[in-house]
Amino acid sequence: MGFVLAATGSAIGLGNLWKFPFITWENNGGAFVLVYLMCIAAVGLPIMMAELLIGRSTQKSAVGALKEAVGPAWGLVGLWGVMCGFTLLSYYTVIAGWSLFYFAKTVTWSLSGFPAGLATGDLFGEQAGNGSLQLMLSFGFSIATVGVVYFGVQKGIERIARLFLPVLFVILVLMLISALGMSGSREALGFIFRPNFAELEPTSLLEALGHSFFTLSLGMGAMITYGSYISRGQSIVKASAIIVVLDTLIALIATVIMFSVIFSVAGMADDVSDTGTVGMLFISLPALFYSEVPFGRILGPLFYVLVALAALTSTMSLLEVVASYIIDEHGVGRRKATLMCGGVVFVFTVLAAVSFGAVPFITNLEVGGALGDLLFGGKVGWFSMADHFVSNWMLPTGGLAVTLAAGWFMTRQATESELMDGTEPGWFRYGVWRFFIRFVAPVAVAAIIVAVIFFGVDFS
Ligand code: PHE
Repeated sequence: MGFVLAATGSAIGLGNLWKFPFITWENNGGAFVLVYLMCIAAVGLPIMMAELLIGRSTQKSAVGALKEAVGPAWGLVGLWGVMCGFTLLSYYTVIAGWSLFYFAKTVTWSLSGFPAGLATGDLFGEQAGNGSLQLMLSFGFSIATVGVVYFGVQKGIERIARLFLPVLFVILVLMLISALGMSGSREALGFIFRPNFAELEPTSLLEALGHSFFTLSLGMGAMITYGSYISRGQSIVKASAIIVVLDTLIALIATVIMFSVIFSVAGMADDVSDTGTVGMLFISLPALFYSEVPFGRILGPLFYVLVALAALTSTMSLLEVVASYIIDEHGVGRRKATLMCGGVVFVFTVLAAVSFGAVPFITNLEVGGALGDLLFGGKVGWFSMADHFVSNWMLPTGGLAVTLAAGWFMTRQATESELMDGTEPGWFRYGVWRFFIRFVAPVAVAAIIVAVIFFGVDFS
């Protein structure tokens, strides 16, 4: 149970609360949501099983596991995953830090009233551009992450997941109840669940695919590493299904909540389209808690607690990927390795933290030319470049490698014995999984990479 909660916590994160609602908005809801569900089932779930089985069969973290399960050269794929975890952690922490800022703000507003006429867009820009504030926030969040991983898998990671995940669910359900009571909830539900395929853009499918990697923490060794903590006698198939279903459920609930709010306020829909992803979570919502949302004075601060908890259970899995590599492959003790990795990652977190105006050189950083376009999508600023590279390059290539490893390079016997170990549920068919991991998943992931290279599709 501890393991399933930890892995679910890794999957549930800013991707669910921050990215998914926004891409659903951009892609006109309905049909996109359906396509997303298909991607999760056809590609996400099989790869989840693949990563967990590689981890459990070897009982090692990403690098060691791939070396042992597939072959020595595959250690490089594991290393690629470690680098991906490192990079993702470095900037994810910054957004996580914003949730601390908004928690503090909403507590103040709940106690002493929301300042009349406050422009939340300006407030957001000011806090993001305030270098010392950003350093403090992200440092605070890094300390929390290091603090958990420091105590190891059982006493740190699993304990925090056991403690926080239920809290997260409760807060989300409270918010859902409140949101369903709002006038815009019917429209929101229609937007999300009534498919209109005429509105579906061709790139939506790819966007859904790309997001399924991010949201399920796939393609970078996190689930391989967590898989190594599953005991024999536990079903990988069941665990994967639970993780995937819960992650999807949370993403949908978050979307219902946000859209109910948006559709309840006149003119809000246009605002959201203007301010983008950041806007929904950190610009629109803060004020709406005090004007629109029933019980908003209580739910406001709770909501940012939710964001912070969801982010923490993800950042700890990212740090665990990096730290467990150092622990397993370089024989460093857990405590020392955690502090070391946390420290080095934080150097890059600093760069991400000052990417929003605090340090002009970092804010305006750019790699020009064709290479810059290809690798970083012409993005400007350290934060955006890192996010672009991780979402468009690191996760898809890592994911492709894992599907090939499990589908083509490992023996049938090796994967079958892990999945069909007598604990698998009755509905599971090994042959179906094998077909998806050998053919469907690699083709789908390759399509992402082709889209990035040749069609300039952006998954960040
Ligand atoms: N799945 C997390 C989210 O949705 C992000 C993440 C990716 C975490 C990879 C760990 C590893 O926010």
